[in-house]
Amino acid sequence: MEPRNPVVRVRRFGGPDALEVVDAPLPTAGRGEVRVRVLASGLEYTDVLIRRHLYPQTAARRPPFVLGYGVVGEIDQLGDGVSGLQLGNRVADMTVVGSNAAYRTLRADRLTRVPADLDAAEAATLILSWTTAYQLLHRAARVRPGQRVLVQGAAGAVGQALLALGRLAGLELWGTARGEHAALVRELGASPIDYRREDFTRVLPGGFDVVFDGIGEEGYRRSFAALKRGGLLCAYGYSAGVQAQRRMLTMLMWIARLYLWRWLPGGKRGRFYSINVMRARHPAWFREDLERLFGLLATRAIRPRVAERISFSEVAEAHRRLEAGGLDGKLVLCPDLPSQRDRVPP
Ligand SMILES: NC(=O)c1ccc[n+]([C@@H]2O[C@H](COP(=O)([O-])OP(=O)(O)OC[C@H]3O[C@@H](n4cnc5c(N)ncnc54)[C@H](OP(=O)(O)O)[C@@H]3O)[C@@H](O)[C@H]2O)c1
Repeated sequence: MEPRNPVVRVRRFGGPDALEVVDAPLPTAGRGEVRVRVLASGLEYTDVLIRRHLYPQTAARRPPFVLGYGVVGEIDQLGDGVSGLQLGNRVADMTVVGSNAAYRTLRADRLTRVPADLDAAEAATLILSWTTAYQLLHRAARVRPGQRVLVQGAAGAVGQALLALGRLAGLELWGTARGEHAALVRELGASPIDYRREDFTRVLPGGFDVVFDGIGEEGYRRSFAALKRGGLLCAYGYSAGVQAQRRMLTMLMWIARLYLWRWLPGGKRGRFYSINVMRARHPAWFREDLERLFGLLATRAIRPRVAERISFSEVAEAHRRLEAGGLDGKLVLCPDLPSQRDRVPP
């Protein structure tokens, strides 16, 4: 009998109740493709943007379509013309959509090998959040040891990765987070700033060398104000705009304005980083950086936090938790996990 292929589908754009889990046909690997049995697929804040129709890269898609930004899987079928890969190999890819599934097909020439002894859920966290953080630090900002760096949303998925990788790069770090996450931020090697009580623009009178901002409070204005002369603001997200139910056009205007600010006196610069734009321009960097992160995970030089492994039956609730905030690690869909109802309590 053919295995089942449950998938997480966006039925219409909107809230978490717009998601449904349905059985899709088992896909077949075409020429140049492999089919994988999915071992883990991260649930991302970016999935919330896609579901709410606030994500430029997927704006042209019409529901129904399957969510799932990244995948770690085991090859169970090879299409024609695929060489250098074997059944049973573990591989990863960033797919933007389509990976919250039990099986899916992938283009063989886009795959990154995953060392067999890595935990699949931990490996899945590296695909979007940690590769973003790595590229923000080393490709976009090109940080140097000793630089003073502020990370907005430091307890979030990308924020935690920025702190951990920033510490390895020898940076002096500060991180904004809700007060309850101060110990976590400190554990990751940074000075915590409670974003509900403290004004981060006053923490370092001389200003920061670099600010990383995936939140976009006040259209990035205050992050820009917190820079020293000649400093760099790397924006990469606009969660605050999503929370305030702004339209996509408003957020795109915030991004365009970042590039105009460089003409203001003070020599400060702003830019927007997108993992998809960088991958399109430099495909080799994406694989190189993800492989490096898998290597760091293998030696436990980095320890991504998996808050919870999620079954298909818990995905809608997981999306509610993503939107509510307060998480201190990643939620990862693990298709092999029995549904919550069938799980034996520990
Ligand atoms: N450009 C790219 O290539 C790229 C790649 C990955 C992600 N992103 C985007 O980057 C953003 C962050 O992603 P993520 O996966 O790290 O999300 P996440 O895990 O939800 O983290 C966001 C963090 O920001 C915190 N936060 C919310 N409002 C804040 C404020 N006013 N000041 C400081 N912190 C605040 C949240 O804290 P609380 O728990 O206290 O609410 C949470 O810890 C998202 O918008 C995502 O779409 C962009």
